[in-house]
Amino acid sequence: MSDVLTLTGITAGYAGIPAVRDLDLSVASGEIVAMLGPNGAGKTTTLLTAAGVITPMSGVVTAFGKPLHRRLEQNARAGLVLVPDTRGVFHTLSVRENLALAGGDPGEALDLFPALKGLMSRRCGRLSGGEQQMLAIAKALVRRPRVLLIDEMSMGLAPVAVQALLPSIRALADRLGVGVLLVEQHIDLALSIADRAVVLHHGRVSLTGPAAELRADRHAVADAYFGG
Ligand SMILES: Nc1ncnc2c1ncn2[C@@H]1O[C@H](COP(=O)(O)OP(=O)(O)OP(=O)(O)O)[C@@H](O)[C@H]1O
Ligand SMILES: [Mg+2]
Repeated sequence: MSDVLTLTGITAGYAGIPAVRDLDLSVASGEIVAMLGPNGAGKTTTLLTAAGVITPMSGVVTAFGKPLHRRLEQNARAGLVLVPDTRGVFHTLSVRENLALAGGDPGEALDLFPALKGLMSRRCGRLSGGEQQMLAIAKALVRRPRVLLIDEMSMGLAPVAVQALLPSIRALADRLGVGVLLVEQHIDLALSIADRAVVLHHGRVSLTGPAAELRADRHAVADAYFGG
């Protein structure tokens, strides 16, 4: 597997104050890497840096073997697509219109989220949280990403709704070969579909390893959350 996204020695933050320090991270094609950690650990900052939204103070981000382009749209066109925790769906528009705005063929996305097929005419403001999240990921898929950066898919969702979404994330990695960096608060759910995981604490990696190993060692994960 070749790495499609690599962060090397990344220090990044806001107004000159680092929120993430000296971070190394890679995602291969078809791989799901879960990024875990408590509130304020630096997960979103890492995703925004990986997407090119935040310019790091030091370190390098490469996507598909090349340093990130300064223009975000160029990175997106190359296949690096961010799904923000705000989801980016338009509430007054229908599912069909939202997908059309993504500007491509929604066929593959709808195959991964068949539940959306019956909701095409519904205004997004009337979708459930889980359905809105499906739409947010489907919109990202229309852009034919090679890397998806997904921030807190589960924001505002019941665990059962998160659980329903996870097989589709695994499928888009397995079937389409998309590399996924998945920020998630539900540790067990994230580890159940991820290949590897990284725990952040106070902007530093406190634990990393194969998801199966971390699942088997909950104490290590708990320690990593608290900076052990
Ligand atoms: N726009 C901003 N300006 C200044 N500081 C910020 C900004 N956004 C985040 N921070 C700070 O950077 C640190 C890391 O925040 P970040 O949003 O990356 O954490 P997170 O792991 O995504 O947390 P959460 O689980 O709550 O989403 C925090 O201390 C936060 O207060
Ligand atoms: Mg966040």
